[in-house]
Amino acid sequence: MRPVYFEDGELKLIDQTLLPTQEIVRGYTDYRDVADAIVTMIVRGAPAIGVTAGYAVYLASKEFEGLDAEAYQKNMQAACDTLRGTRPTAVNLFWAIDRMSGIFKGEPDADPKAMSEKLKAEADAICEEDIAMCKAMGKAGAALIKPGSTILTHCNAGALATADYGTALGVIRAAQEAGKNIQVYADETRPLLQGARLTAYELHKDNIPVTLITDNMAGWMMHQGKIDAVVVGADRITRNGDVANKIGTFSVSVLAKAHHIPFYVAAPTSTIDFSMFSGKDITIEQRDPSEVGHFAGVQTAPDGINFENPAFDVTPHDNVSAIITEQGVIFPPFAPGILNLKH
Ligand code: MRU
Repeated sequence: MRPVYFEDGELKLIDQTLLPTQEIVRGYTDYRDVADAIVTMIVRGAPAIGVTAGYAVYLASKEFEGLDAEAYQKNMQAACDTLRGTRPTAVNLFWAIDRMSGIFKGEPDADPKAMSEKLKAEADAICEEDIAMCKAMGKAGAALIKPGSTILTHCNAGALATADYGTALGVIRAAQEAGKNIQVYADETRPLLQGARLTAYELHKDNIPVTLITDNMAGWMMHQGKIDAVVVGADRITRNGDVANKIGTFSVSVLAKAHHIPFYVAAPTSTIDFSMFSGKDITIEQRDPSEVGHFAGVQTAPDGINFENPAFDVTPHDNVSAIITEQGVIFPPFAPGILNLKH
């Protein structure tokens, strides 16, 4: 399942807000609409956001390629700033925009039309590399999974969160493809239900047995011995191995530690922030409180009370058993292994 791809001059996005009841693909030609699609989570998941941003920069270039070189550079910079302002936590967004803007900034006098071609090739490369990284991560991570395992996952780190195949779900897919007979427990992931709507949807479509639980059931499932390993994705990993991921991941890591269950994080190098030393510096996106006070559009809490709605939390590296990357598996202490990654 490819949630983001380029076809017939348009960026195509599966509208993930409509899943699981409708699978609708929307077409985009204006980078501003793509920025809105990231904000409203039509597309979401760290690697998928990065791939989308890459194509959005190319769409901006198509719009501005008729301008002289100076005006082109100015408008491209503004477009990149708009895209950077969409969501703060997943580093893949900034990584992809930096990679794209490095190309046009590196040749300030180049013909904008020729630049558009280079940017399209770069956006395609980001997309194809993402799929290759997911496949490589899957293979590396599957080696950690014992045959017959039941794996708990949180949020959606699947094909829908990447260009295809997934990070955490890529590990699960690869283990299943290797004949390991895997079962999955998916946390529903309040407030936006990525686990229920997206993870359960794509695993079921792939005939991987999936059991949905509400977030507050995870500890009890572990206590009963029903979970053999936890595998999650990441939105940003810092140099010491701290992991920002969907809100609730931290609680799952604490529960896993208490029950001596391995807690694995699967993420490509594009999710590692080599400039940040620890998770305390990560900006956590705060979303609309109405997401907490409502369920599926129905009000579930009284008016006039306070709400908090952080979209992510940070799992300290001490709670992480291994980080699975496309370059191999890193075990604690994470800092040396992370610094050794090619990037
Ligand atoms: O708010 P979302 O749905 O974009 O959050 C997504 C997650 O937290 C995923 O677990 C993470 O991006 C890893 S995706 C491979």
